[in-house]
Amino acid sequence: MTVLVTGGAGFIGSAFVRQALKDLPEARIVILDALTYAGNLSTLENELKNPRVQFYPGKIQDPTVVEGILKAEGVTHLVNFAAESHNDRAMLEVGSFIQTDVYGVYTLLEAARKFKLERLLHVSTDEVYGSIDTGHFTEASPIEPNTPYSASKAGGELQIRAAIKAHGTPALITRGGNTYGPYHFPEKLIPFFIVRLIDGKKVPVYGDGSQVREWIHCDDHAGGILHVLQHGQIGEAYNVGDKNERTNMEVVKILLEETGRDQNFIKSIPDPRRGAHDKRYSMTTDKLEALGWKPKKPFEESLRETVRWYKSNESWWRPLVQTEDYQRFIRAFYGPALGEDL
Ligand code: TYD
Repeated sequence: MTVLVTGGAGFIGSAFVRQALKDLPEARIVILDALTYAGNLSTLENELKNPRVQFYPGKIQDPTVVEGILKAEGVTHLVNFAAESHNDRAMLEVGSFIQTDVYGVYTLLEAARKFKLERLLHVSTDEVYGSIDTGHFTEASPIEPNTPYSASKAGGELQIRAAIKAHGTPALITRGGNTYGPYHFPEKLIPFFIVRLIDGKKVPVYGDGSQVREWIHCDDHAGGILHVLQHGQIGEAYNVGDKNERTNMEVVKILLEETGRDQNFIKSIPDPRRGAHDKRYSMTTDKLEALGWKPKKPFEESLRETVRWYKSNESWWRPLVQTEDYQRFIRAFYGPALGEDL
């Protein structure tokens, strides 16, 4: 088994690489990553020393790169983590999302067909379902994305669906919940707030913080994806979640406690996502559980452990928040609302 992990230097992709090296002792792991701002080789420092791992820099939307790797490495399985994934960045600019999350998926599908891969697993998100006030999304729920980002992920998924039907491509889809844990680029709620609180800065909560997200640890998310790769049925989609729903304020309270900060570090700002801010995400996971998989990490304890990881791994994240690109995004997106608290 030779598994190509696209986006393997990113947050969930790198967790998957670690998991796959452990659980697939015979497999070779080939990583393709564009090393954008959110993909970092320091995340894979240990894994890259493993003789079973091969790394290639490059974009999934480049067919020459993708097909070259499939040919040179004899790839049998492909797991696609490569994506632009930050909702707030997509509020400012969505072209790069469509390039990677839609056109990139098309490129992978074409290559998978040409090289007759055994399996292609596409990693998607529960956000493609849109928002749900009560009850839970199942895999049969309609795809109704509300944000520029989730619409780009839905576009990729629809290409997968069509390739399965039109060409019999042996593809599967996973739809994961909001993910947290080590090596998470500090722009999404949890890692962004942790690094700001460590630095003694206020955290910008959108509106009243009553939105609900379903959180899953990156090791559980990666484990669920690996389980679907091995045991899922071709042509099917699987929700990968932890049924662990929290309001943003509940999450922020734990982060304040664990960093030793008080309520004064919360700054409520007008919602920058406007009408595109989904109120609640919630999924059933019966389909995945029926394959014999369950998440293991308890939320609150693992979230506190994540805060401690950021406290003791400043050398990983400090250079990332000092880049010009990062500073520019934070200024552009939060500057007007945070003012002197930026
Ligand atoms: P995020 O981590 O960006 O994930 P997603 O939008 O994909 O669910 O956001 C999680 C929640 O946190 C969402 O309701 C928006 C909110 N949020 C803030 O209140 N402030 C912030 O600075 C960020 C990044 C998110």
